[in-house]
Amino acid sequence: MNNVQVKNLKEIEPAKTPLKGQVVIPADKSISHRAAIFGSLTYDTVCISNFSGGADCKSTLNVLKGIGVEINYKSDKDIVISNKNKFMEPNNILDAGNSGTTIRLMSGVLAGQNFYSVLTGDDSLRKRPMARVIVPLKEMGANIWARDDDTRAPISIKGSRLSGITYNSPIASAQVKSAILLAGLSADGTTIVTEPFRSRDHTERLLSYLEADISVNGNEVSIKKSNLTPKPIIVPGDISSAAFFMVAGAIVPDSEILIQNVGLNPTRTGIIDVLKNMGAELEILNERLECGEEVGDIRINYSNLKGTVIEGDIIPRLIDELPIIAVAATQAEGTTIIRGAEDLRHKECDRIKAIYTELNKLGAKIEETKDGFIIHGKTKLNGNCTLETYHDHRIAMSGYIAGLIADNPIKINEFNWVNISFPEFTDIFDQLKQVKTVN
Ligand code: S3P
Repeated sequence: MNNVQVKNLKEIEPAKTPLKGQVVIPADKSISHRAAIFGSLTYDTVCISNFSGGADCKSTLNVLKGIGVEINYKSDKDIVISNKNKFMEPNNILDAGNSGTTIRLMSGVLAGQNFYSVLTGDDSLRKRPMARVIVPLKEMGANIWARDDDTRAPISIKGSRLSGITYNSPIASAQVKSAILLAGLSADGTTIVTEPFRSRDHTERLLSYLEADISVNGNEVSIKKSNLTPKPIIVPGDISSAAFFMVAGAIVPDSEILIQNVGLNPTRTGIIDVLKNMGAELEILNERLECGEEVGDIRINYSNLKGTVIEGDIIPRLIDELPIIAVAATQAEGTTIIRGAEDLRHKECDRIKAIYTELNKLGAKIEETKDGFIIHGKTKLNGNCTLETYHDHRIAMSGYIAGLIADNPIKINEFNWVNISFPEFTDIFDQLKQVKTVN
């Protein structure tokens, strides 16, 4: 890449000793967004414990503040959402920052509100596809428009009365499903969404916990106009953040990590299934249920990994983990094939291209395909290079883990993008490099 601005250059030394110890994983990003949005939709007061400190969830809070929601911090992780006066027309454009979940879910909420609003985001978000939510919302009667023939943000919405539809989504996307269900919460009649494979179901679970009239039958979800009941919400740790520790534990020789407080919702646990298939020594402990979500601890040890094939209905269960799974695959004996993951090209960056380019720089044997990768292992990764993040938090963190097993130090340009989901990432890793026992 030419003319890359060098900002926040982070140097990563190869791990000289095993990673040993226990880490507590910070809050799930997907559930934090939903807790704040659905909490506001109770039109009352809701306490949320363990809310994500990442920039994406702060974008959701800022958008909610822009439409009149009061947000108070009881501590840095515990917040109180208060919306007794109901939403009001924003004075200014609502900025969703880098967050696809914020802009898509809030489009569904705002479509049924009785005022005019405009949602936008940063350079990356304004390039991402928005027709996937605009098309079904228009079918429900929403007055919603966007740039480039209704495909890209900014999105403008003149709230209106909505009607329920049956929508067969062409893609398995929790953001699309959730936008429609949130519009359905205020629409006349019943709103039904089906998807080709089941995407993460935090919306269904949290709406059901807050007593919405919602039901799930296989890949079909239906919702009727409902009032939500205010209740306290506890957010579990993010399995997508835990994924970096799982892979680090499996590939840094002699490591042994206990990862605590991880959300284990089965629509998110594809990474656990894949690592087990690859031969990882991984154990789940202390399983429990909190606010309708499974939670537990994961113990992972250094393992001899082997290649695997990842395709079909597991893809939505691990879509955000594919960059770090690609790093694990470079350390597995044999070939790993990832197919059917074309949507990776529409995330915070084109993650297929980014992973291919950066792992190739490190000397991995990786091929880029239209909908995934083919990776041949096991290969040594060379250091002495500078990786790019493409302004994508998960590419930044995947690069960091690759750096731990490289022969020589690496640098990562603009590593600060990690703050989008996981500001605590480096501090937690630093602790792990110092602690030498696991209980
Ligand atoms: C998310 C859904 C996924 C995921 C994203 C968060 C959510 O996107 O990649 O990081 O919170 O609903 P899609 O629904 O577009 O696949």
